[in-house]
Amino acid sequence: MKNINVGLIGFGTVGSGVVKILQERKKFLKDKIGAEIILKKICDKNISGKRPVSVEKSMLTSNAGDILNDPQIDIVVELIGGIKPAGDFIRQALLKGKHVVTANKALLAEEGQELFDLARERGRNIYFEASVGAGIPVIKAVREGLVANKFQGVFGILNGTSNYILSEMSHENCSFQKALADAKKRGFAEANPALDIEGIDSAHKLILLVYLCFGRFVALKDVFVEGISRISLMDINYAREIGWQIKLLAIAKKSGDELEVRVHPTLVPMEHPLASITGINNAIFVHSDLVGNLLFYGPGAGWLTAASAVVSDIVDLTKDIRAGLFKPTLNIIPDQSVRRIEKIDEIESRYYLRFMTEDKPGVLGNVSGILGKFGISIASVNQKERKKAGVVPIVMVLHEAKEKNIRMALERINKLPTIEDKALAIRIEETF
Ligand code: HSE
Repeated sequence: MKNINVGLIGFGTVGSGVVKILQERKKFLKDKIGAEIILKKICDKNISGKRPVSVEKSMLTSNAGDILNDPQIDIVVELIGGIKPAGDFIRQALLKGKHVVTANKALLAEEGQELFDLARERGRNIYFEASVGAGIPVIKAVREGLVANKFQGVFGILNGTSNYILSEMSHENCSFQKALADAKKRGFAEANPALDIEGIDSAHKLILLVYLCFGRFVALKDVFVEGISRISLMDINYAREIGWQIKLLAIAKKSGDELEVRVHPTLVPMEHPLASITGINNAIFVHSDLVGNLLFYGPGAGWLTAASAVVSDIVDLTKDIRAGLFKPTLNIIPDQSVRRIEKIDEIESRYYLRFMTEDKPGVLGNVSGILGKFGISIASVNQKERKKAGVVPIVMVLHEAKEKNIRMALERINKLPTIEDKALAIRIEETF
């Protein structure tokens, strides 16, 4: 029986979780898979810092080469995050014949195509379950459980921090800034929280889901990304009054031979399951042709949550290695029916539009005149009570319109002398 040696690069929050699970569930895992997983070495820049787990000093190194060049190590687990040097470590591990486990969604979104190609050439695998939805086994479900399916769409709440902020604002009636400060205190935001609130982290994860579901690696520059920093408590409350919840949604859907890939705040009907996802939870709603609609739901951040997914990858690779399986097992083939990625300007959607304006005769007429000029039809208008001297919020729901037209109309509306601040438009998603 071959036992499997693991080298861990990155002894931070998730790394500590992996160590804890491998220490405390050693026998449990051995009984399940019939092989022992031995954590041989751990590398981190800072090996003397305090951690929630203790390990023998002799296992620790600050030189990644001690893991990458160790011929006895079968699996390298990369948990340092970021692009450099994480990508170089993974390349070196593959070149040295090791399998790789990573949770690094940013790296895979940017360099994944090259890294997966290298792994294929070398007959090695890269598993990355923790990179999307932390412990929710959505990657395994898509690549294995749904292997016979073709996909029409994926709609995900993929960033726990943003979802926490939006749901705190909604439930606690608090400001964006207060909810963000709470999220930071709780420690699930990225080192740079702009990645969370500006939608980039969701886009990284969406790129990976698109790769798994549609077999295409979409470049980050081709994903339309808009974050939640302009969403105010007022919008959350107005949206709720008219039956919608605001969510930061990552959307990939096929329309004809085109694929829309975008991340933005979205009005979701209150009765849709995604509307009820609160706190740091993530949820991925998948349209598959044989099974139909599936919802994967659970905590999208947290040390043991993500570590659970990392260990599941280590176990899968252990099984591959013991079976002598040196073939990529991601089961990914390009969806030939997708011919291009649709440009954001071309998408059609209904919109929620909110602007702050002076309470004067003719204001609504001017705004609706501009919308009319661009062929945009208004479904409903609601003028709110006057809040501060002379300025009132007006909320409109628009019928289906082309993004390009909305953009041009907003440019004009924002130039009206009666409009304070920039108008806010939020896309409405109903077709899922
Ligand atoms: N910052 C991420 C989130 C953590 O808030 O979802 C896991 O990727």
